[in-house]
Amino acid sequence: MAIKPIVITGEPVLHRRADEVSVFDAELNQLVADMFETMDKAPGVGLAAPQIGVGLRIFTYDYPDDDGNERRGVIINPQIELGSIVDEPADEDTEIEGCLSVPGERFPLKRADAVRIIGVDLNQNPVDISATGWYARIFQHEFDHLDGILYVNRLAEPWKEISTDIIADNGWGKPGLSWLPGRDNLEA
Ligand code: NI
Repeated sequence: MAIKPIVITGEPVLHRRADEVSVFDAELNQLVADMFETMDKAPGVGLAAPQIGVGLRIFTYDYPDDDGNERRGVIINPQIELGSIVDEPADEDTEIEGCLSVPGERFPLKRADAVRIIGVDLNQNPVDISATGWYARIFQHEFDHLDGILYVNRLAEPWKEISTDIIADNGWGKPGLSWLPGRDNLEA
């Protein structure tokens, strides 16, 4: 296994639709193992394959429930059903989101309170998860990555403009930038 560099906003693979996985082989197993290792080291609650430069529809997640029970896995070729999104501004304390590909920054974003996500695991067994709250937020965030959407692309004003300025100030928004968990001291 290996920890992989996490690409930063501006890398083209983050901004295009990822491809369906069609071959389930040892190479895919290795990729997913690397994604888990990279996610854990970052650390992050989720990681999408495009974030390590691979344009495939795969994400990993790790978000224990309130009792500490493990909720960890990989979802391949997911589809998502969104609950309704309340039409009011995001709460600046409780609805703050971050992303390993926009490292060190966090902005408020309204999300659906509930989702259902359906896909397969590495053995092509069906995965079907209904989630609420922050767990649902993670699935929306990671699913968006597979469609080339970063959470900063969804922000309302004034956060949209603020994030655009910060991304420019950091010198991001162009290809070729990445950071390595465990080496570079950045976090989402
Ligand atoms: Ni992200």
